[in-house]
Amino acid sequence: MNVDGVAYRTIWVNEDGWSIDVIDQTRMPHLFEILNLKTLQDCCVAIKDMVVRGAPLIGTTAAYGFYLAMREDASDAGMENAYRKLYETRPTAVNLRWALDQMQLCLVSLPGAERAARAFRRAGEIADEDVEISKGIGRNGLTLINDIASKKKPGEVINILTHCNAGWLATVDWGTATAPIYMAHDEGIPIHVWVDETRPRNQGASLTAWELGKHGVAHSLIVDNAGGHLMQHGMVDLCLVGTDRTSRTGDVCNKIGTYLKALAAYDNNLPFYVCLPSTTIDWTMREGVKQMPIEQRDGFEVSQVAGRLPNGDIVSVNIAPDGTEVANYAFDVTPARLITGLITERGVINASEAAIAAAFPERAVTEES
Ligand code: MRU
Repeated sequence: MNVDGVAYRTIWVNEDGWSIDVIDQTRMPHLFEILNLKTLQDCCVAIKDMVVRGAPLIGTTAAYGFYLAMREDASDAGMENAYRKLYETRPTAVNLRWALDQMQLCLVSLPGAERAARAFRRAGEIADEDVEISKGIGRNGLTLINDIASKKKPGEVINILTHCNAGWLATVDWGTATAPIYMAHDEGIPIHVWVDETRPRNQGASLTAWELGKHGVAHSLIVDNAGGHLMQHGMVDLCLVGTDRTSRTGDVCNKIGTYLKALAAYDNNLPFYVCLPSTTIDWTMREGVKQMPIEQRDGFEVSQVAGRLPNGDIVSVNIAPDGTEVANYAFDVTPARLITGLITERGVINASEAAIAAAFPERAVTEES
């Protein structure tokens, strides 16, 4: 997408032809800085510290991390080490495991001397595939937005609520939840987005608001607890959220607070759609609430808030008494029964095992454990 007239992806090959550049998302929205990744360790830190985040981008960064690892040690032991170190960076987004499996699969039978070059190509393919997946989600989601528009008066605004950042910054380009929004906006459909701030790390405030603003999409930042009120008063037409891991039965693990938005939408009979790249389906899981691991992160994310002072300094301030016990659950699971549908690159489908397997039959069979 464009940033001040310049087309960017979130991850790309540096002009040196081999190292990898990413946008440092820990500095946004106050600073737009590019970080150069040269080693496996650089990629692990970038994922762990959330320089890059969002399920599809985590997967793509892991693929490039695997490639950089092959430049360091392309032996079988080097492959095992790369897989393990990258796998341990963050637990939720299943795209990470998917990307590592893809890399391993294409490299395992090659001689060591050929592995780095092949890994470079495969990581590039994974990045390009992610862009195509997001575009597919955008096209399919656009049909839903067009349906809503057709039931409104000409020119009447469509209000969409989204949570966290499932935007282009969370993918390689376009985003998942934002792709239909950008496409609708580009077609001249009047859209307004309610952006949940998404405590504790505020990805809505710092990333979604930033990218919607750069693209010229009207939006309002709201506190996380405002969604239910807006839904009760007819101020939301559609909820679009992302996912980090979706069970084969359609339960969705996404940023903490997603479940509460789904409950509110259900109570208000409003459409709640999850934008789902197929790389985010965990074919080994059937019972999301019971089986999905929930990432618990450092308490400082809850007890502190980061922001920019009038003098430009970026600082963190405490908002709780010193020593307060903090629990920081970073994700929750929305059961399939609360989800109106899944917007995938292959169409809009029910959140059910039968519909997911019918849309992706080749993976449903081979990946069940
Ligand atoms: O902790 P984050 O910022 O990586 O969480 C991101 C989300 O929860 C997104 O909604 C999800 O990854 C989908 S991204 C298209």
